[in-house]
Amino acid sequence: MTCPIALETTGLCKRYGPVMAVHDVSIAVNEGEVFGFLGPNGAGKTTTIGMALGLIHPTAGSARVFGEPISPTHTAPLRRVGALVGSPGMVPALTGRENLAVLASLPPVVDMRRVQETLQLVGLAEAASRKYQGYSTGMKQRLGLAAALLHRPSLLILDEPTNGLDPAGMQEIRTLLRSLARQGVTVFLSSHLLHEVEQVCDRVAVLHHGRIIIQGAVSGLLANSGVRVRVPDPAQAARVLQVLPGVAGVQPDGAYVRVEGVASDAVAKHLAAHNIVPSELVPCRPDLEQVFLDLTRS
Ligand SMILES: Nc1ncnc2c1ncn2[C@@H]1O[C@H](COP(=O)(O)OP(=O)(O)OP(=O)(O)O)[C@@H](O)[C@H]1O
Ligand SMILES: [Mg+2]
Repeated sequence: MTCPIALETTGLCKRYGPVMAVHDVSIAVNEGEVFGFLGPNGAGKTTTIGMALGLIHPTAGSARVFGEPISPTHTAPLRRVGALVGSPGMVPALTGRENLAVLASLPPVVDMRRVQETLQLVGLAEAASRKYQGYSTGMKQRLGLAAALLHRPSLLILDEPTNGLDPAGMQEIRTLLRSLARQGVTVFLSSHLLHEVEQVCDRVAVLHHGRIIIQGAVSGLLANSGVRVRVPDPAQAARVLQVLPGVAGVQPDGAYVRVEGVASDAVAKHLAAHNIVPSELVPCRPDLEQVFLDLTRS
């Protein structure tokens, strides 16, 4: 069964003079998933999002939202999209609640109950009566998220939504994003924070120098990462393990040997067949940071 696709880009490219900011980016975000767009500073995340939102003209390629093409002259399908990109335009002299009320009065109009609901959702109910000009960076970010949620979007596109938030605030936003996904909202978020993507996303595309270098399930990216075994003679065990089929690398490491590319049961059986009894055998699960560094080492 194929999943309906909320956001799709095909061969998206953007050139700025000599700089190819985005190069042949093709991604498909399924409805109902939380999709991470991971890349370091300057990777092309905001430029890609800008094209998906019809804010930037692609040099080549196309973007579709719920199956409909998006361009700066055709943005109608974006009615079902809530977005947070950069600092949202708010009126400094108005309170957080008043700013949202102004946005709520724009078509399609939503009532004040929804304004209050979104303020609560993003944890801003207490600060809602304070003027926007006195807001901290994190509070501004939360208000931007509330604005993106106001019209009950089916697809949320968020460019680094936890920027400026403290760790507790980041965790709150992640929890909110997961709960929105459970309610059927598709979430596309860019981030340069590997652990954030690891915690909140179902699938991820990793962007580097404008190109997608890998795309897939977060669990898949983290699988198959090797085993650490503690053995009486690591050098001898390393020689023995070198010939195990499927092994991608063997490294003695103090009292341990680290074996890459094979599952722990295969390592245990192979050692037993050579009369080596490990006193410890630990499957290693690298974090996304290690995967990312391996992929982007160039
Ligand atoms: N309007 C522009 N004119 C010229 N170059 C640009 C423009 N916008 C972006 N770029 C360049 O395109 C590349 C990608 O930038 P982009 O802002 O999309 O990256 P990013 O992944 O969002 O980075 P960050 O994590 O810092 O937000 C960078 O080299 C940037 O300098
Ligand atoms: Mg950016």
